[in-house]
Amino acid sequence: MNWWQAGIIYQIYPRSFQDTNEDGVGDIQGVIRRLPYLVELGVDAIWLSPIFTSPMADFGYDIADYTDVDPLFGSLADLDNLIDAAHRCQLKLILDLVPNHTSDQHPWFRESKSSRDHPKRDWYIWRDPRPDGGPPNNWLSEFGGSGWKLDSNTDQYYYHTFLSAQPDLNWRNPSVRSAMHDVMRFWLRRGIDGFRVDAVWYLLKDDRFRDNPPNPAYRPGGLPRDALVPVYTADLPEVQSAIAGMRRVVDEFPDRVLLGEIYLPIERLVAYYGRNLDGVHFPFNFALLTAHWDAITIAKLVEEYEAALPTGGWPNWVLGNHDRPRLASRIGPDQARVAAMLLMTLRGTPTLYYGDEIGMLQAAIAPEDVRDPFERNVPGIGVGRDGCRTPMQWDGSSFAGFSAVQPWLPIAADFREKNVEIFRQDKASLYWLYRRLIQLRRNHPALAQGTYSSVTACGEVLLFVRGLPEDRVLIALNMGDKPVPVTFAKEDLPGWVLLSSFGDRDNQELTGHVDLRGNEGLIVKLSSSGTPQRRRVGVEVDRRGSG
Ligand code: GLC
Repeated sequence: MNWWQAGIIYQIYPRSFQDTNEDGVGDIQGVIRRLPYLVELGVDAIWLSPIFTSPMADFGYDIADYTDVDPLFGSLADLDNLIDAAHRCQLKLILDLVPNHTSDQHPWFRESKSSRDHPKRDWYIWRDPRPDGGPPNNWLSEFGGSGWKLDSNTDQYYYHTFLSAQPDLNWRNPSVRSAMHDVMRFWLRRGIDGFRVDAVWYLLKDDRFRDNPPNPAYRPGGLPRDALVPVYTADLPEVQSAIAGMRRVVDEFPDRVLLGEIYLPIERLVAYYGRNLDGVHFPFNFALLTAHWDAITIAKLVEEYEAALPTGGWPNWVLGNHDRPRLASRIGPDQARVAAMLLMTLRGTPTLYYGDEIGMLQAAIAPEDVRDPFERNVPGIGVGRDGCRTPMQWDGSSFAGFSAVQPWLPIAADFREKNVEIFRQDKASLYWLYRRLIQLRRNHPALAQGTYSSVTACGEVLLFVRGLPEDRVLIALNMGDKPVPVTFAKEDLPGWVLLSSFGDRDNQELTGHVDLRGNEGLIVKLSSSGTPQRRRVGVEVDRRGSG
């Protein structure tokens, strides 16, 4: 198995992890300082959101120099030190690659903008105005408004999927492709272990610039970009060859990984593995970020995903990231424990977002504290991403151990009761549950490598088995708050509780049925006398008890 299959990825949003130079913004030295914490937690790889030179219009996702570090985060030497330090602790380091767009301050764009005849003009997407002077077509920006901005100097519009300060590169131009490949080689040679590729399903746009059709399902008051169906601006077939090109670059180096950020329905998502598995190693599976949190929905979703995967395509699961509301606020603190168990027992690589291991909540951000440009452009409908980007809560000191000064975003209100220092002393905490789960996943190959078989989902209980012929593990998750009795088949007994989410049943022997308490999760090793070939495990859930 490859490290990116067996391991657990931990996403760090560097602005908010650890500040060491007292400017209220996290930095690379801060990540180095906290490596022992990640080792203790037990994760295997860090994905670091962008640390490159940037005017920070979109907090680093607007890059002005792909091959240097922004002074706000440190220096190239700091990054080299991080690569070394991480590797010394057996941690892999994945960087963010943002190929769809640059900053408008990038020298490439400045040159491109300087005149219609500049050799780099065609590195970006320039079009003439309509006869009435308006934008060339109806394409919308993800962050609100038209996707086109007029450059009055050269009297043409350029296209931007996101902010107007993030002009899109023209991926139909081979020079752009090879420039980006060189960027990749620059970092791969420095020893990083791979890339998470940003917004990769947007990489190519229709070469005839046709209008996107209206979205019949759109309701006023929704996200402005949802007014149109992005058939000509996203998920174009040509994207696949661009990704295959990046994959070839990654494959020039041993043991590196290419992961894709792709928000698409499952049937389209899986296309990004590539026709011959020559696409990304895996496209992030964001299905759990928006799924209604009940056993039937989740069981269905897991089965659909498992069934849609191409042969040899490796699965993965994500519960949170820097763009979506915090898990513990979405499903509540009790279910956050169940979710931890789900994430660490499903088949495929788990990605953990910093702070979710202590149940950090979506922070309420006062209007005057809003920093996210998305929220500023499209205010008031809840798109703001600041609430999931607040500083890591390390301890109960004035700035939560994140910084000695006022941080760039407010610290969440609950930091004095909810922080790493307190949770480390409390074996019943969510943090300890994560540690135990990660350890268990490491020690039980059935969890990291075994097959997935769905057993049943009824009422609020989700049951599935992860199995290898010699090791079968049943996962029973109560996604409701009422107790539910679960009866095991005789041939699977006796079973042993490997881990219980409440921490009070570990090592218990199961000989008949078990009363699953509300919000409880159990991981049970089934008796080896059960028939390993059997797809189904004999479990009965008493529906009357399932609320
Ligand atoms: C991705 C990033 C998001 C960013 C956008 C534009 O979706 O995750 O944070 O704003 O791309 O780069």
